[in-house]
Amino acid sequence: MSVHPHPSGHRLVPTSPVDPPRPLRIAVIGYGYWGPNLARNVIERPELELAALCERDEARAAAFTQRVPGVPVFGDFDEVLDDPEIDAVLVATPPRTHYGLARAALNAGKHVLVEKPLAKTAAEASDLIALADSRGLVLMPGHTFLYSPPVNKVRDLIQQGMLGDVYFVTSSRMNLGKYQSDGVICDLAPHDLSILLYLLEQPVAQVSASARSVFQEGITEVAFLTLTFANGVTACVQISWLAPRKVREMVIVGSQRMVQYDDTAADESVRVFDRGMEFKEPANFGEHQLSYRSGDIVIPRVDAAEPLGLELQDFAHAIRTGTTPRSHAHLGLEVVAVIEAAEESLRRHGQPVLLKRAAERAAA
Ligand SMILES: NC(=O)c1ccc[n+]([C@@H]2O[C@H](COP(=O)([O-])OP(=O)(O)OC[C@H]3O[C@@H](n4cnc5c(N)ncnc54)[C@H](O)[C@@H]3O)[C@@H](O)[C@H]2O)c1
Repeated sequence: MSVHPHPSGHRLVPTSPVDPPRPLRIAVIGYGYWGPNLARNVIERPELELAALCERDEARAAAFTQRVPGVPVFGDFDEVLDDPEIDAVLVATPPRTHYGLARAALNAGKHVLVEKPLAKTAAEASDLIALADSRGLVLMPGHTFLYSPPVNKVRDLIQQGMLGDVYFVTSSRMNLGKYQSDGVICDLAPHDLSILLYLLEQPVAQVSASARSVFQEGITEVAFLTLTFANGVTACVQISWLAPRKVREMVIVGSQRMVQYDDTAADESVRVFDRGMEFKEPANFGEHQLSYRSGDIVIPRVDAAEPLGLELQDFAHAIRTGTTPRSHAHLGLEVVAVIEAAEESLRRHGQPVLLKRAAERAAA
């Protein structure tokens, strides 16, 4: 893989084999709910330096200055773009603003990490990918769960063949959640979709969706997605901001074993069940055809690490080395394409919507 040249002309490589590279200078854009987590992790990572915050809201900007005195705050994004000392931006603003901000940053020669979802439409996401590629810049969507130790444990189990053939997945992400004007699908589904794409390594072929808007027409608070992946695996995803308690659970059912991943569990977040059902051709009419297997439940050890810190480490590594980050822009595009298809299914009263293959989308 080629190493990205740096259009701003900054030296991002050591000046001599013994000099460590200087930290990448980062601007965080948006200091609402998620921005403070990004800012804190930038400060904590040795390969990064928090060079500036950009926040339009004066009260939020003041909250930042109180917590992180001495770091410049810009109210206008153009000031960030005009600063040649800033290498990269982390965009933590509402989803409808992602495309415009990311596009402007790439055009200004900055590497970009955009919070999920990468953009509102697949066309916008494709445009950003083409722009980043043409300029040799890193464009990375912030799919934080790809760096979560339990998610990676489940992926390892699947890849080692512990589950056998994966049959289906159920995923629930519910809470009394923060109301967002982009709707619950845009807000929460990127988590489930990015995890599913990462675990199954298969594109989504078809999606159908149903949802309910309780408070404001067109803004859904609860949604149910049914996905079919290209290899036939199915997944049912339920997401809601209206729920009595926090649920973040995924169950993966395979021919050999079943796995439960509970992200709310402080400990024992992954459980492997040696359970299943086997179908036997009957020798005689009336003979039982099914046999049940109910073996041990194993709780594998899962390392403790903050996913967001690992995500930023990967972003810095991608900028330094030109390697593709784990949360890569094409995965971000797939997520956006599935969300778009789910919203299309909602408009068609739950009818299944077929997704174009990535290659077809690129050619369109
Ligand atoms: N990875 C995760 O787990 C995770 C979790 C929560 C939110 N997010 C994502 O983070 C993003 C932000 O979500 P949030 O809940 O923090 O939103 P928010 O509305 O709480 O905060 C957004 C902030 O951006 C500021 N802003 C908007 N436009 C701006 C602009 N042009 N320039 C400067 N500042 C601007 C607003 O004033 C606000 O303070 C969303 O994309 C969301 O999906 C990711």
